[in-house]
Amino acid sequence: MSDKHVKLTVPEGKTAELPIIEGTMGPPTFDLKTLHRDTGYFTYDSGFAATAACKSAITFIDGNKGVLLYRGYPIEQLAENSNFMEVAYLLMNGELPNPEQYEKFDQEITYHTMIHEKMRALMKGFQYDAHPMAMMVGTVGSLAAFYHDWMDIEDPEHRRLAAIRLIAKMPTLAAAVYKNSVGQPFIYPKNSLNFTERLLHMMYAVPAEPYTPNPVAAKALDLLFILHADHEQNASTSTVRLVGSTGANPFACVSAGIAALWGPAHGGANEAVLNMLDEIGDVSNIDKYIAKAKDKNDPFRLMGFGHRVYKNFDPRATIIRKACHEVLNELGIDDPQLDLAMKLEEIALQDDYFVSRKLYPNVDFYSGIIYKALGIPRNMFTVMFAIARTVGWVSQWLEQYDTPDTRIGRPRQVYIGPKPRDYVPLDKR
Ligand code: SDX
Repeated sequence: MSDKHVKLTVPEGKTAELPIIEGTMGPPTFDLKTLHRDTGYFTYDSGFAATAACKSAITFIDGNKGVLLYRGYPIEQLAENSNFMEVAYLLMNGELPNPEQYEKFDQEITYHTMIHEKMRALMKGFQYDAHPMAMMVGTVGSLAAFYHDWMDIEDPEHRRLAAIRLIAKMPTLAAAVYKNSVGQPFIYPKNSLNFTERLLHMMYAVPAEPYTPNPVAAKALDLLFILHADHEQNASTSTVRLVGSTGANPFACVSAGIAALWGPAHGGANEAVLNMLDEIGDVSNIDKYIAKAKDKNDPFRLMGFGHRVYKNFDPRATIIRKACHEVLNELGIDDPQLDLAMKLEEIALQDDYFVSRKLYPNVDFYSGIIYKALGIPRNMFTVMFAIARTVGWVSQWLEQYDTPDTRIGRPRQVYIGPKPRDYVPLDKR
């Protein structure tokens, strides 16, 4: 900690000396701990746009340069050279695994992919048309009901095993959610397959015949999961941390994270992008929808565009756009929605409204097109995001537990309600 500080004097003349806290990279911050004590003031920062809620060593984003690092490694290098299990180990443990560590981690994840048989009964209770994210919120939270002997979260091994269980079981739950929607029997995890092959097998295999996952699809999913694994203190990760700060169990924390991710302004955007492309329908309608997106009186926004942090291209969008072409070519699919998306991006990025606000395509703009090419139903797109982001959520949850000055999260407010007033009896109103 540097001994540099900022002095802040309020109109009433009181002054606070706020220590400056600097990280390895990124903007310096000042510690507000003594602000209210010394000045009587709070700070106001709607949406926490300029507020660091924690210290973290996991992921770094430079929004102006379009930089994304996982434990210091550029996302482009991990996308090119790594795989999702190795990235999961890296995010959880801080270093790339050696061959022995990788093997042990991959086997441990594989070992924990099954869910309790009673979970299957629970999931069969949902209607076939229940939204998959509603089912995921409910079933992930209910995992706590099955591991009460392993939920002493003060025990580091209990915490680590809960993290492993969550990473391992998300694909099994996701596949069961999908099977429930199509009225097919749940498929048990196949330990001889890798993480994404296993997911595809559980989703698309049927007892009546053998099923071999398409290697192109498995590789594309692995890339998408790497790109979606973590992203600093985004809304769902901040939710996981806030719920975790109360001492709630990790299954409840991740269930809350799934609920937050569901929103169309966040992880739900990948589903919303495809809905938007359906609504636009044809290149000839693009100008009309660009105008709607710019119209302050119109709630329509260009889904998959803009980002709280990236004021440049989202590096993940650049990687996914390239993968879109490769996957569709390899699968021999000609999807007019990809052409429409490319045209929409081209036109929007020539429009000053988007350029001046630095609204570029984000991770969700192209991901849905690949998911669609892999045969994944649209209402399962955000479930795919949740499978990947579970690695980031549990990594950040573990880190928070190991951070000594973690306190329960409890923001304050600017009260704009009525001043004190006396109760008026009903017959006097
Ligand atoms: C994810 O945080 C993360 O890291 C998230 C994520 C992750 O990996 O966890 O990256 C994943 O959530 C990506 C974002 C997916 N969401 C969408 O694609 C939905 C569409 N995007 C917008 O809703 C919006 O851009 C947000 C929510 C992403 C960001 O919102 P901000 O930072 O609060 O920006 P803002 O609403 O203050 O917008 C600033 C200006 C406004 O116009 P003015 O008031 O200045 O005139 O830009 C406009 C907005 O109206 N604007 C858009 C727009 N996004 C912002 N106008 C049209 N279309 C859009 N998409």
